[in-house]
Amino acid sequence: MDWKKIYQERLVSAEEALSHVKSGDHVALGHALAEPTYLLEEMVRLKDNYKNVKFSGLVPGKAPYAAEGLGEHFRTCSMFLGASTRKAVERGDGEFIPRFFYEVPRTYREDWPVDVAMVTLSAPDKHGFCSFGISVDFTKTIAENAKIVIGQVNKYMPRTHGDSFIHISDIDFLVEHDEPLVELPKPHIGEVESKIGEYVASLVNDGDCLQLGIGAIPDAALQFMKDKKDLGIHSEMISDGVMDLMKAGVITNKKKNFHNRRTVVTFLMGTKDLYDYVDDNPFFEMYPVDYVNDPRVVSQNDNMVCINSCIQVDLTGQVVSGSIGPRQFSGVGGQVDFVRGAAWSKGGRNIIAMPSTVKGKMSKIVPVITEGSSVTTSINDVDYIITEYGIAKLGSKSLNERARALINIAHPDFREELAKAYEERFHEKCDYKRD
Ligand code: COA
Repeated sequence: MDWKKIYQERLVSAEEALSHVKSGDHVALGHALAEPTYLLEEMVRLKDNYKNVKFSGLVPGKAPYAAEGLGEHFRTCSMFLGASTRKAVERGDGEFIPRFFYEVPRTYREDWPVDVAMVTLSAPDKHGFCSFGISVDFTKTIAENAKIVIGQVNKYMPRTHGDSFIHISDIDFLVEHDEPLVELPKPHIGEVESKIGEYVASLVNDGDCLQLGIGAIPDAALQFMKDKKDLGIHSEMISDGVMDLMKAGVITNKKKNFHNRRTVVTFLMGTKDLYDYVDDNPFFEMYPVDYVNDPRVVSQNDNMVCINSCIQVDLTGQVVSGSIGPRQFSGVGGQVDFVRGAAWSKGGRNIIAMPSTVKGKMSKIVPVITEGSSVTTSINDVDYIITEYGIAKLGSKSLNERARALINIAHPDFREELAKAYEERFHEKCDYKRD
């Protein structure tokens, strides 16, 4: 059948499409900044039609259903929390589900049936294929496995290459609504982030393949890589900082031994400049997260350097990244996927970089992790920890050596306190300056 005919037949108003969502349904959402904002805002407007609809996903987007006062209608079931979903969980209007990012598609396929998938799509191409654009990750999986698929066709969604497409005939209801995609503003890079970025960049060699987490530190690190040559990208996500180095000819992917000359990612978060840059750009290949983040896939890149951040590190090198004590802050995301992938990569390195303090008030390097926190990267997986005071390589060190190395990169105001904790724990004088 002619796809244009199918398109016309399935084109409906938001209200009609949303009438197929029933109370108690599990609705899985397109990921991150590719959430179908218009459909969600319409659902909130029609809230009285719904009781206990469960929304799942990893949602740092607007998540209008997670606003206060909607708990009776909508419940957040998220595998990564952003500002609005975090508040919903804290109010008791939602739950957090721990899952490695690369396992999320499998979770949807095997354990967690989806009643309705709601996704944002690019306009169809001449063959009737729409692109998932800036979020392929598990967005493709939910669209391929849900009982009902509702697509918001948005001309602002770029057409990205790779395994990023779905045919019109696989969508049940299409709603046309153009709205600019949510943008992630460029982060503020202060003195502390700059210093950390400089240390991180010092561990990166020409020709390395990079994964970068979210936030100011990865962007700060990129600013110190302007003189490097032929860097490559195999990353869960990228933001505008990576685009700038591509345009400058620093990131060429020419030395990648896997997906040579291509940037491989599973989702993107940035400004409109980035979304315009990836549109129909074959330099980028986007694949589902169970491919991009699978540590076995990551490790096929030689010289893989992973750069991520965290909330807290204890003196043995246990890394907490998703929680602040018992308060769930974000999630594991792809941190461990890449930490393991880098460990298995020939010449690979994994780096956790963070400011030494929380706004100067408390140390992020602590004797023991705060009660109630969950460990993200274990003492067995950790390698480099970086703060604005230097680099601690923990990999092959004993617990005593690790603790001294970490005290050396802690904020000076907290070193004596940490040294005291060291002496209580290891029953020896802590001469951390000797290393
Ligand atoms: N104790 C108490 N609060 C702390 C803290 C600590 N040890 N460390 C950080 N915080 C607070 C900050 O003050 C800040 O609070 P605010 O929101 O009120 O300002 C908040 O936690 C976030 O800290 P910040 O340093 O601004 O975070 P970030 O934006 O640099 O992100 C992580 C850091 C760890 C939260 C983030 O990288 C993450 O979620 N990581 C896990 C997933 C991951 O690594 N994915 C990798 C692939 S993308």
